Amino acid sequence: MKILVTGGRGQLGRSLTSRGPARGHEILAHDIDTLDICDEAAVARALDEMGPAAVINGAAYTGVDKAEGERDKAFAVNRDGAAVLARTCAARAVPLLHVSTDYVFDGTATRPYREDDPIAPLGVYGVSKAEGEAAVHAHGGTVVRTSWLFAERGPSFVQTMLRLARERPVLRVVADQHGCPTWSDDLAEALLALAGRRDLEPTYHYSNDGATTWHAFASAIVDEARRHRPLACERIEAITTAEYPTPARRPAYSVLDTTRIRALGITPPPWTIGLAAVVAAELTVKPMEH
Ligand SMILES: NC(=O)c1ccc[n+]([C@@H]2O[C@H](COP(=O)([O-])OP(=O)(O)OC[C@H]3O[C@@H](n4cnc5c(N)ncnc54)[C@H](OP(=O)(O)O)[C@@H]3O)[C@@H](O)[C@H]2O)c1
Repeated sequence: MKILVTGGRGQLGRSLTSRGPARGHEILAHDIDTLDICDEAAVARALDEMGPAAVINGAAYTGVDKAEGERDKAFAVNRDGAAVLARTCAARAVPLLHVSTDYVFDGTATRPYREDDPIAPLGVYGVSKAEGEAAVHAHGGTVVRTSWLFAERGPSFVQTMLRLARERPVLRVVADQHGCPTWSDDLAEALLALAGRRDLEPTYHYSNDGATTWHAFASAIVDEARRHRPLACERIEAITTAEYPTPARRPAYSVLDTTRIRALGITPPPWTIGLAAVVAAELTVKPMEH
């Protein structure tokens, strides 16, 4: 199947590009320089000229903290760009898969979030993504929410922790935010399995298996890295969100319930598998000095 991927240079875009061909797909990947999702005429032309059987939107404004000061930019891409894609795809009956985030939830739940639970984003990024979801739904597209994405080359939490662990003896990491890390390659496989289907629900959740905290995730990253080479890091201190203020508020709990996507035969692997692959790739590509 011919699949148009937007945001092709991002974490997810690169995974879709690398994983697609093995599933027999032809991936047409474009990023903002060749296809700006906010440019309706360009999107319409791309769909008409390329004639994809499906579109996967990996393009987004993903700076959670920066969005607090760049509201217009976040909304332009995450709401208006999503609307452009949804409208142009719907006009041509091309199925659209749009990726959204666990940060549409406020984090007050005490069990994993289901697709139909009420959303109540805490920051500008989350609000802009929530409005993008609404635009996609209005035009019959499918939203796939994911969480705590990491990828080879990132930039993600994994690359940040690898760098800090190389430089500092003590890391301080938030231990009171709970969620599920997700390897972009696993998310890409799930999206490729859904691409082109016309029998989908409006929303799915996909994250890797295993709820954790940023602190426990950091510890796993450092343990994994240490299997490859020595690090400066001796200790990872658990701190509270209050001790690490950020411009954007984040949900304290954003574990996603993946029952609905599992019912389609898509089983998310544990995040530890992706983490091992990404850490190995990082340390091979960028040898760490010590
Ligand atoms: N990263 C996470 O932890 C996380 C968690 C939950 C959900 N998500 C969602 O997952 C999806 C993929 O995230 P990601 O981490 O792969 O994002 P990413 O690495 O930031 O990639 C997004 C890509 O979209 C491009 N882009 C920005 N504006 C565009 C436009 N107007 N037209 C076309 N391309 C544009 C970006 O280019 P520039 O780099 O030049 O801006 C970038 O290459 C997003 O929808 C995100 O909201 C991410």
